[in-house]
Order: sequence, then structure tokens, then C-alpha cells
Amino acid sequence: MRRKIAAGNWKLNGTRASAAVLEALVEQHPNPGAEVIICPPAPLIPILAGLGTPFAIGGQDCHAAASGAHTGDTSAEVLADTGATHVILGHSERRADHGETDDMVCAKAKAAYRAGLTAIICVGETEPQRDTGTTLDVIATQLAGSVPEGATPENTVVAYEPVWAIGTGRTPSLEDIAEVHAAIRDRLAERFGPKAADAMRILYGGSVKPGNAADIFAVPNVDGGLVGGASLKAEDFGPIIAAADATR
Ligand code: 13P
Repeated sequence: MRRKIAAGNWKLNGTRASAAVLEALVEQHPNPGAEVIICPPAPLIPILAGLGTPFAIGGQDCHAAASGAHTGDTSAEVLADTGATHVILGHSERRADHGETDDMVCAKAKAAYRAGLTAIICVGETEPQRDTGTTLDVIATQLAGSVPEGATPENTVVAYEPVWAIGTGRTPSLEDIAEVHAAIRDRLAERFGPKAADAMRILYGGSVKPGNAADIFAVPNVDGGLVGGASLKAEDFGPIIAAADATR
């Protein structure tokens, strides 16, 4: 039985005052059945982690190196040291804005493992790739290149985020989500064996909202969601946590 995950990716949003969002969510869900992970901008990690809630806190990226001359970057070690237990890696916004390749994402995932963090590794096709029928090939290539040897159900979560569904209010059909998630689990089984693959969580991300979360989380092989815009307000993310709880 895979425990569902409701993960919030705050992206470039939030201030210290956003601790109130976390507090409101904890009030709604003091003892969630699902695993709740909040990924704020890095400087907010120690503040949110310091609240000592039942929710996990994660980073949105890390550098592959543990230390060194890399101005502006954050190591997996400092994320862990300041209270993070997870880190999102290979998000399509980082692949697009910062030219991150599968090799770079793989190196970052190894850094996450080194620091004891769980890597949430993102894959997903663009709209032209979906339109030309190459979605499953694109995802297979991204998985092969981005997920390191040594991935386990404990240290790795995969997030399927179709690029065209992020922030657009559009989502694939439930059938299309089922097809991609099943293909991801097959690829994971080929590399890590059926037992490990069966225990790995695969999240869906891209325009998850209170109104569609329950339907999406009930799709076979969907083990929860990675949520952007709807994770910023407790009145939106609270019902999404509830949907993850209910479809356990
Ligand atoms: P939205 O939920 O805003 O579409 O963003 C999804 C996402 O990119 C989560 O990582």
C-alpha cells in the first residue's frame, strides 16, 4: 500500500508571513493520513520547519556539490541542515529557465541521497511532444537520464508534470494520466525491479485544484499530487490534502 502524498510547490511565492498558511493547514489536518510536503523558497525552510508541524518541508532545487565556489546555489546538505527532508528536482521550470539536463538532474538527485533527502524528480512532455505522440518516449528518456542508480521507494518520488498543464488550468484526461503513470511504473520496474517499483510513489502535477484532485488521485498508479498555484492558500490546499487522505 503506497501512502498518498500531497506536495505543495510554492515556487517563487511566499514570505515569512506565509507561516500562517501552514498553521491554517495544520489546523484543518492535524493528523493527515497522507504525507504532506510543503516546498517553499529556500530561506523559508528553517522558518516553516521550525514550526514543528506534522508536515514535511522540502526545497525546490539543490546544487550537485556539497560545497564550493558556486555563488547563489544551495547544497542538499544545507537544505537538510535547515530542516528539509525532501527536494524537488528537474522541475520543467528549472529545465527551461536554467537549462537543466537529465544529467544535471541525476547529479542533483545523487546529492539529495548523499544528504539524506528524498528527491522528487519531475518529468513531463511539452505540448508539441504530446501532439506528435512522443509523450511516452520523452518520459522514458527523462526517467532513464534523471533517476540515478540507487533510487529506492524511500529516497525517490517521481512527479509526472505535463509542461502544458502547469499553471494553465488544463489537465490531461484521466485515461491519459493513467497511461503515463502506468508507463512510468513499468520503466521503474525494468530498472529497479517490480517490488521497488511497486512501492515508489508517482505524483501527478499540473493544474491540480480542489475540484479535480479526488478524481485524479483515484486514477491507478497516481499516488498524490505536486501542486503549484493551489498550494498557496489553505482554503485551496486543505481540500487537496483531504482528497489525498480520502483516496488512500
Ligand atoms: P500548478 O499546480 O500551478 O499548475 O503548478 C504545478 C507545478 O508546477 C507543481 O510543481
